[in-house]
Amino acid sequence: MSQQITRLGLVSALHQEQAGLIDAMQDAQTVSRGMRDYTTGKLWGIDAVCVLSRIGKVAAAATVATLIERFQVSHIVFTGVAGAVESDVQVGDIVVADSLAQYDMDATPLFPRYEVPLLGQSHFGSDKHLTDRLAKAASEFLEQDLDDMVPGHDRDTFRLGSPRAFRGLIASGDEFIDSQARQLELKQAFPSLLAVEMEGAAVAQVCFEFGVPFSVIRTISDSANEASPHDFMQFIESVASRYAFGIVKRFCGMGDILPPA
Ligand code: ADE
Repeated sequence: MSQQITRLGLVSALHQEQAGLIDAMQDAQTVSRGMRDYTTGKLWGIDAVCVLSRIGKVAAAATVATLIERFQVSHIVFTGVAGAVESDVQVGDIVVADSLAQYDMDATPLFPRYEVPLLGQSHFGSDKHLTDRLAKAASEFLEQDLDDMVPGHDRDTFRLGSPRAFRGLIASGDEFIDSQARQLELKQAFPSLLAVEMEGAAVAQVCFEFGVPFSVIRTISDSANEASPHDFMQFIESVASRYAFGIVKRFCGMGDILPPA
């Protein structure tokens, strides 16, 4: 049986990451709730709701719970940036999450470290079909749109080379990782970890609890080390926001039906 996206929730943590998406919406209407603006409308043929989550796990969880309960979204896609913790993964690459974990969850000795109490799990898998499609949109964007959408001088500034799309584990916590030592600790705790950010696993937990299919895609903005804050905002403006726009455009252009389960 095929799955239809009856209403897509599109969430990101920073304003610049949704730049252009709201402008591209047809019949856009905005409703404010809990210090968030939820904009509903049609995005390249798909009924969608765009919202900025703000930063951190609590902010993301509150936003996504509202999207599900009040705006009745059927699927959620989270776009944004992340720090790389795997040496193969470089600034300008994309990581699409197969699963997500909260690296700062620690209810020991009551529950195993990293396990979310009462859910009995530390890792939350993203929806395979949504993730397959998002990964395809990301690869096609890098192959076909990058040169047009990110000007040469911006690609040079951030030494983008030939960016690649990866798939794997993303970990989230309420901490900006900007030290090699901290990064190593996380890598030891989660050996297959590709990237860190501050919202994805909270989105994953809420979607798991409500039974809503979700996917998380991140552009690598830094290498989660001492150089991380350098040019961070400029990267979001010049690179990540263009990635998010181009990938969501391709993703929506594929239609509202996901492949059979
Ligand atoms: N988002 C982007 N880079 C990050 C980092 N280094 N740590 C946490 N979240 C991030």
